[in-house]
Amino acid sequence: MSWTHTFTNLCDWYTHLLHNSPTGTIHIHILRNTITSNPDNVEHILKTRFDNYPKGKPFSTILDDRLGKGIFNVDGDYWKFQRKMASLELGSVVIRSYAFETVMDEIQTRLIPVMASKAHGENGTEIKTVLDLQDILRRFSFDINCKLSFGLDPGCLLPSLPVSNLADAFDLTSKLSAERAMNVSPMIWKMKRFFNVGSEKKLREAVNVVSNSANEIIKQRREMGFATRKDLLSRFMGLINNDDIYLRDIVISFLLAGRDTIAAGLTGFFSLLSKNPRVEEMIRKELNQVLGPDQESPTFDQLRQMHYLNATVHESLRLFPPVQFDSKHAEEDDVLPDGTIVKKGSRVTYHPYAMGRMKKIWGPDCLEFNPERWLKDGLFVQQDPFKYPVFQAGPRVCLGKDLALMNMKSVVAALVPRFDIRVVEPHHEPQFVPGLTTTFRGGLPVKVIEKKMLST
Ligand code: HEM
Repeated sequence: MSWTHTFTNLCDWYTHLLHNSPTGTIHIHILRNTITSNPDNVEHILKTRFDNYPKGKPFSTILDDRLGKGIFNVDGDYWKFQRKMASLELGSVVIRSYAFETVMDEIQTRLIPVMASKAHGENGTEIKTVLDLQDILRRFSFDINCKLSFGLDPGCLLPSLPVSNLADAFDLTSKLSAERAMNVSPMIWKMKRFFNVGSEKKLREAVNVVSNSANEIIKQRREMGFATRKDLLSRFMGLINNDDIYLRDIVISFLLAGRDTIAAGLTGFFSLLSKNPRVEEMIRKELNQVLGPDQESPTFDQLRQMHYLNATVHESLRLFPPVQFDSKHAEEDDVLPDGTIVKKGSRVTYHPYAMGRMKKIWGPDCLEFNPERWLKDGLFVQQDPFKYPVFQAGPRVCLGKDLALMNMKSVVAALVPRFDIRVVEPHHEPQFVPGLTTTFRGGLPVKVIEKKMLST
């Protein structure tokens, strides 16, 4: 724990060690964990020797109660089947337009009104209201992902900002499952689970709340019919008969995939934008050019035309990736391209957070928020996915990447022209809560100033 004297977060200490390692790789002996920031190694693990680096049993055991046989938690045939089915669905026009309509509706009817209700006018006097933007974005994300996954509206972003038992239970399962991974030995949590005490008792209760809600929705959907509905559950119900537990595991994985990641991505985005008014002005300028004076929100196609907006979202995900690290387990002994020896059964981790902060990969200005690095002659240019594995890469690349980017860009395009969003303590280095996805400890306290809309 000596790192805590110098670094705020474990990921910052790993970044420091990886930066100082000539190969960009380190080995943490007591954890039997090889951690790499070397793009050649990442390509080797995620693509070239994909078969040698499954998630493995140590990972699936930790998340088994929560995710069961959902896509996140399985390898082999279970994974192949879900991957095929899900990529067909997520790539379909029906799901894409349903997702876009859902996001736009939530933005117009809930997100903008809630932000406006907490905002102050441009000429307002002293601004006192402080809003936790992370909380608002998590509510937004829970609503849209429940609608997409289950066709259910939990109403977390209604004006009263209600408490949702389902959202709370879902969050508790994330927190307690992540804490399992922090035990020195898995025997500790397994014993607690066996005796059903402490955090394991709470985890079991929270998992039951989520599972029971999902079971209830599946039951109702069977009774009411699902053929004409567009959410993922209904689409998968048409493909999987008579296995409601499997169906439940699949959709809970999707809820997890989309909920925490999008909220984390947007929280990081607004924390960076608050300190970069130049970038904010460039986004407004591009929106003005594409939308003109009379149109308030972009269409799906217009979002795709906004190269600067796309660059800012990619750039913020580089510095604040929602999944900071991701581990696999070696099936057989291996040697990575940089010469690191990997022993059978050991853990191998690639680290998008550290990689986004490496001079070797991004140059001397790697810590700056500079969307221009993604543009060539004003056009967005993709980077090598193995040097930017924010969405993973190779055969298991994130299936929701396009959806997530559409979602984030829609929120930015809606909020940036209407509000100046300013972090209350901009120089305070973020502290992260340990977990599977990035969460800012203490939230993201902001002040919101409403701008006069350009068309008025
Ligand atoms: C900014 C938002 C997002 C980021 C940064 C992100 C990142 C990732 C990463 C790193 C993985 C690999 C995880 C692992 O294997 O352990 C992953 C997998 C996955 N993501 Fe995303 N994700 C995002 C949003 C979404 C959304 C919105 C959806 C769907 C609605 C989604 C669906 C999935 C699925 C299904 C997988 C599993 C793919 C497989 O195992 O074959 N993601 N994502």
